[in-house]
Amino acid sequence: MAKLETRYEVGSVEELRQKGRIIATVKGMELGIFAVGDDYYAWRNLCPHGGAPVCEGVVCGTRLPSLVYEYKYGKDREILRCPWHGWEFDLLTGQHLVNDKVKLRGYGVVEEDGQLYVVV
Ligand code: FES
Repeated sequence: MAKLETRYEVGSVEELRQKGRIIATVKGMELGIFAVGDDYYAWRNLCPHGGAPVCEGVVCGTRLPSLVYEYKYGKDREILRCPWHGWEFDLLTGQHLVNDKVKLRGYGVVEEDGQLYVVV
């Protein structure tokens, strides 16, 4: 049996670029829409740690694996940091940066004529 998917309009590319993120409600779920480069991502606005509105957190980079006494910063503007306790998630994959069993729930985003649609 084929699974039906529906597209929901969540805003425009221009709005997303101006605000840095869009928080939208789709089918009763709050989602955060983000742009990383020319790609778009939608993540459930619910932190798997304690239920915080994770998509309201800071978008930043993070420290990369490096040798002792070295400090390497990378993935700039690809990391979402939860506002409550600082857990960090990769905006491209939803994956928690340390615990590979923890991930944000994500949905596809389609851009068409400057409008953004989440596919649920
Ligand atoms: S609720 Fe997100 S890190 Fe604790």
